[in-house]
Amino acid sequence: MCGIIGIVSKKSFSVKNDLLKGLKKLEYRGYDSCGFATKEGAVEKSVGEIQLLIDSVKDSTTTLGIGHSRWATHGGVTKANAHPHFNKDKTLFAVHNGIIENYQELKQMLEKNGYGFMSETDSEVIPHYFDYYIKKGLGIKDIMIKFMAEVKGTFAILLFRKEDGRVYAMKRDSPLVLGVCDDCFVLASDIYAFSDKTNKALFFDDNEFAIISSDYHFYNGNGKEIKKKIQNFEWSREEETKKNFEHFMLKEVHEQPAASRRLIESLKLMQKDALKSFAEAIKKSKRIFFLACGTSYHASLIGVYLLRKLGIEAHTVIASEFENFLAVDKDTLVVAISQSGETMDVVSVLKDIKKTGAKIISIVNVPYSTIQRLSDFSIEVLAGQEICVAATKSFTNQIVVMLAIAKELGFLINLDEIPGKIKKALEDNEEKVRKLALGLKDKKDIFVLGRGISYPIAREIALKLKEISYVHAEGMMGGELKHGTIALIEKGTPVISLIPNHNEDMISNTKEVEARGARTIIVSDTNGDLIVPKSHDAEFSIYACMIGHLLSYYIAKENKLPIDKPRNLAKSVTVK
Ligand code: G6P
Repeated sequence: MCGIIGIVSKKSFSVKNDLLKGLKKLEYRGYDSCGFATKEGAVEKSVGEIQLLIDSVKDSTTTLGIGHSRWATHGGVTKANAHPHFNKDKTLFAVHNGIIENYQELKQMLEKNGYGFMSETDSEVIPHYFDYYIKKGLGIKDIMIKFMAEVKGTFAILLFRKEDGRVYAMKRDSPLVLGVCDDCFVLASDIYAFSDKTNKALFFDDNEFAIISSDYHFYNGNGKEIKKKIQNFEWSREEETKKNFEHFMLKEVHEQPAASRRLIESLKLMQKDALKSFAEAIKKSKRIFFLACGTSYHASLIGVYLLRKLGIEAHTVIASEFENFLAVDKDTLVVAISQSGETMDVVSVLKDIKKTGAKIISIVNVPYSTIQRLSDFSIEVLAGQEICVAATKSFTNQIVVMLAIAKELGFLINLDEIPGKIKKALEDNEEKVRKLALGLKDKKDIFVLGRGISYPIAREIALKLKEISYVHAEGMMGGELKHGTIALIEKGTPVISLIPNHNEDMISNTKEVEARGARTIIVSDTNGDLIVPKSHDAEFSIYACMIGHLLSYYIAKENKLPIDKPRNLAKSVTVK
């Protein structure tokens, strides 16, 4: 994770208004600490959110600057560990996203040659490494070639020399893109950083490096110049403000009717062929595996349930464990689901899978992301930019894609009704959920029960309660509760039961916990504490999940938690 940015401009720009504001758009990638450096050699760092840095520094202008927002991996959350890192003379500055795996080896070599280190990070080897070889007489381009050959691990790096006017950029596995603006170039972890300035970008591929000044030159790892094509991307900018909402999370929950409608329309027109090809690929493949992490994994579980309802065998595996479970060959279809399209656990599996000749289809929110570019084709969930770390509208749209593909394969469902029902579920329940949160805000544990397609939702609601409200929660199969976990139910333990279509087994499971004193909260489309519009249980999953979004939001709000940026998390996880 971590967000990096670099601006090289013909005209002077403001450090606060351009560099740090651009960096702020990448803050969802990590927000432990941040920092920047300018062409003149000024460097500032601080622990905590970028706004603190913006408020504490005096504005200045420059024509070149780099910045970094950190999600700590190697070394604690301290000012010394914040980026940019620099050499002793403060003439070389670097920001890095990724992990230099052999940094100990490089550090030892540098220490033997008299280099001192100020941080505990792997990244600090970068400026010292360049310093060492510059002093040995090598040109920077040659050092970049050497670095790419010698360094193990993952990196998107931006480096510059004081007063030199060029940014040196290197990429392997971690994302890096160059935005081409009218009077400047912006290098960044993703297009969000500059989508207000341009819709033209060049995406770095692995093991490429570039030198950017008043123009740009890209090279492969051996230093051979390569020509790259500028891509035009589309991105809606209105998403970037909170409008009248206190938090992005609530705004994004309320955007679900519009976001799902946009997707459903696109699946009928723009993405119609992609949906058809997806269905064809499912029919032709011998094996179907979904691949995802976190919330996206829960969407993939729904995909598995739906395909199995249609008699199609499919599996899903959390990407970080994929290699321990599944073998893939050319007759396999792999469906990668990812909001960011950058999750490293998914990316690294896909890179291996690509070598087998298996077909890869991705379902992503962020266009031009690495996962999209690694796939044979992709369906975009079109949720728009999601800024809150916790996925809400993107998850709903992932489920809509699952329903659309099931429909394409013969499942009976009216997708057009979904946006209106989402709106109704929100209107009917938000106030009730807000009141419910008052009674749950001090609870240490909450259990969420579901069966069939509601089981992934039980897990998703539990995940939201953990990440947003910091409440320990477990999402369980209703039938499995009695095999152990029921021992934890005592008087007053909150249990949320998801009961679509008067599901008798779920009703029994709810009675079992009530008999042991649990305080049950029934989410249902018939009778219950929170009623959502009547629907098929596959659709019920969307409406029930929204109740979970609202509940975790209002518990967190009551407890004054940092809802949009929960502790220790990041939205785009680009390390293994
Ligand atoms: C992080 C986020 C989660 C997300 C997961 C997978 O852990 O905090 O909200 O579900 O990554 O992300 P992806 O972008 O692949 O859907």
